[in-house]
Amino acid sequence: MRDVAIIGIGMNEKWGELWDKSIRTIFTEAALNAMDDCNVDHIDSMYIGCMSGGLFVGQEHLGSMLADNLGADFIPATRVESACASGGLAFRQAFMDVASGMSEIVLAGGVEKMLDVDGGAATYALSTAADQEYECFHGVTFPGLYAMIANAHMAKYGTTRKQLAHVSVKNHMNGSKNHRAQFPFKTTLEEVVNSVMVADPLTIMDCSPVTDGAAAVILCPLDLAKKKFANKPIIKVIGSGHATDSIALHDRKDLTWLSAVELSGKRALKMAGKKIADINVCEVHDCFTIAEICVTEALGIFEPGMGGPSVESGITNIGGKIPVNTSGGLKSKGHPVGATGIAQIIEITEQLRGISGDRQVNGAKVGMTQNMGGSGGSSVCHILEVN
Ligand code: COA
Repeated sequence: MRDVAIIGIGMNEKWGELWDKSIRTIFTEAALNAMDDCNVDHIDSMYIGCMSGGLFVGQEHLGSMLADNLGADFIPATRVESACASGGLAFRQAFMDVASGMSEIVLAGGVEKMLDVDGGAATYALSTAADQEYECFHGVTFPGLYAMIANAHMAKYGTTRKQLAHVSVKNHMNGSKNHRAQFPFKTTLEEVVNSVMVADPLTIMDCSPVTDGAAAVILCPLDLAKKKFANKPIIKVIGSGHATDSIALHDRKDLTWLSAVELSGKRALKMAGKKIADINVCEVHDCFTIAEICVTEALGIFEPGMGGPSVESGITNIGGKIPVNTSGGLKSKGHPVGATGIAQIIEITEQLRGISGDRQVNGAKVGMTQNMGGSGGSSVCHILEVN
């Protein structure tokens, strides 16, 4: 396998409700920004994470359509789907394409246009990533599934309502420094706890929103990056891990434990030759506040049951021992499901390049991303290091 580097990154200008732009427009904007970032005028192939172009905008066959709109005629272009982990998985496919020697310059992108349908239709589209027969037919939605996980975590470990709210307060604080964030406002513990109830104990301020957005990165062999793209810090992809689990919560031994997250993290760390303590900054899948707590435990950043007390203590703040979700996370930056995994890679790349401004983690050299599908049915992790 060849070593692989990230040489270009780009997002569409701002995430949120982009009613005046189509799926092809926002994807192409992000892709051209990534190509401009490294000054390439062609790509050899591309992979696009998208959960449900069909249900959100009535458009499938996205590989061909988006390559054509980008002007990248006739290249191999593949749409990748793994629910909310579609972007992370698209990045992994692009990484393997370059690492294997099949392609030289590859674009990994993600896009979702979720706000062209009403809230009920968006909830239905998202619910297709849960188990239809055993969960959705009985009326459960994603906020409902994560509420069950939250209640189990509170019962098993004594995690408090306030600790869940701390995740939201921290991520909105970080997002307030991110000009691309959908909801770049700060919030307080009281506002989170007292906002509209969605699924007990989760209020609207515990939930990531529905979002229109796109993101793209460009990968190439490390040798080529050193020869032709060394005008910016070169970011190496040193680890990639992917794992799956049952989709339905009832099939798991422990509602509070995300096995796919644990395994994808371990696989990525093993490949990178790193320990979790070597990670300086990470972006994890906080689709609901409880998710960030469970993910930081499953990755081994904290012992089981210590995710809540840790976020409360400030360890995961920017300036803390292990900053988590410096971008604002899914909660504040937004969660266009197919694009989220790619935007996580962009945030860590910017951190390692040292260009994150007010969000910069001083001295960050090694970063990690964790992107999750559904309620933990799939998870993809990557480890990046500045060369
Ligand atoms: N956080 C903060 N504010 C939010 C928000 C969120 N997650 N979602 C919506 N809002 C705001 C809107 O901007 C709007 O504000 P305004 O009145 O000032 O304009 C207001 O709340 C109502 O917005 P609306 O779109 O009507 O909300 P909704 O009730 O239809 O949807 C949720 C709210 C939480 C149900 C929806 O965002 C949701 O389903 N989130 C989870 C998405 C999900 O499951 N993703 C996959 C994860 S696995």
